Amino acid sequence: MFDVSSFRRQFAFFHHHPDWVYLDNAATMQKPDAVTEAVSRFYQQDNSNVHRGAHQLSQQATAQFEQARQTIAHYIKAQYVHEVIFTSGATAGLNQLAFGLMHTVLKPGDRILLTQLEHHANIVPWQLHCQRYGVIIDVVPLTADRQLDLNAYQQLLALKPKLVSFSHISNVLGHIQPVQQMVALAKAAGAITVVDGAQGVVYQQPDMRQLDCDFYVFSGHKLYGPTGVGVLYGKTQWLEQLTPLCGGGEMIDSVSFVNTTFNNLPFRLEAGTPNIAGVIGLAAAINWLQQYNNKLIIEHKSLLLNAFFQGARQIKGVAILSMPVHNAGIVALNVDGEHPSDVADILNQQQVAVRAGQHCAMPLFDYLALNGAVRVAFAAYNTLDDVNQCLLALEQAVEILTA
Ligand SMILES: Cc1ncc(COP(=O)(O)O)c(C=O)c1O
Repeated sequence: MFDVSSFRRQFAFFHHHPDWVYLDNAATMQKPDAVTEAVSRFYQQDNSNVHRGAHQLSQQATAQFEQARQTIAHYIKAQYVHEVIFTSGATAGLNQLAFGLMHTVLKPGDRILLTQLEHHANIVPWQLHCQRYGVIIDVVPLTADRQLDLNAYQQLLALKPKLVSFSHISNVLGHIQPVQQMVALAKAAGAITVVDGAQGVVYQQPDMRQLDCDFYVFSGHKLYGPTGVGVLYGKTQWLEQLTPLCGGGEMIDSVSFVNTTFNNLPFRLEAGTPNIAGVIGLAAAINWLQQYNNKLIIEHKSLLLNAFFQGARQIKGVAILSMPVHNAGIVALNVDGEHPSDVADILNQQQVAVRAGQHCAMPLFDYLALNGAVRVAFAAYNTLDDVNQCLLALEQAVEILTA
């Protein structure tokens, strides 16, 4: 059995906010003491810039930084450590990909395939460059139960897109995509595969060898780590073809006003001073997380999810958009005829933190013909008490708004 009490005790946040029910986990997770301590230890004891110092302190900071890269590469089962590129988050990773591939691999008239439920971070970067480079975007629609339409996906793959990019888990609905199957189908159609793992990396340890995608991006802050740090994983052959989005710092080999030559991977794609403490904090999060059995965490989260579904279904006037099966622990819902922000406001008054709105997925809400939804997102540190308090607050919201 997963011991949620001892897990939760490791988060100072909950000591400071004993009365709050934090269910905004898809936006960002709370940080365990192991992470906050690793970050402050770095600043208090080890702070120096990396890769460029002649002194021992810088060499020690560099060793910690590169050890963190190894930890992360090992965690995601990358074939080579240099395939882990540090970014400021999933958004930065996707922007680097769109920019980098558009300059080299994608040509006018090429097609790329996205899906209807993508986060804006997996739409806008492509769009910015597609317009300029004459690349066409196709979109995989959804089925009636708001799952990706895999038949339509296969039909769109027949148009031979050069690249397919989709999220591992929907940040609005919580639905887990059949990512391995989707990657295999895309590869069989000859496409480069990009997986937005911003939510996926939290649900399960992503295995790059098994998944076999060409790129996978995620943010540290959704995986118990600090904000402002993330990972762009890519297979060496593809990383080498990316034009760097940013220039300067360690990414160069030589610079003159006539020509600049670039450093090797991973440094070629890491311009400027990196978020050193963030990287060390992310590795601390992963090291800490690995002491737990993720199967038990998944079971615990599905217990919470099922209890929530059961309770919410009994509240008259609540319409649930998410499906309970293949769900990572995220529920989007609405109160009939009411604005999601009004519902979230009442939950906030009851000290239940959720998010309301379009969750950076406007095309999904256009498709659903809705102006938004309330999102309840569970994490391993949530309890059945949290579920019950949220349900009570939801009942109150319905009562107040429909009175
Ligand atoms: C599916 C998905 N992709 C991308 C992002 C962007 O992540 P970040 O804002 O950390 O860069 C998010 C954040 O919510 C997300 O849920």
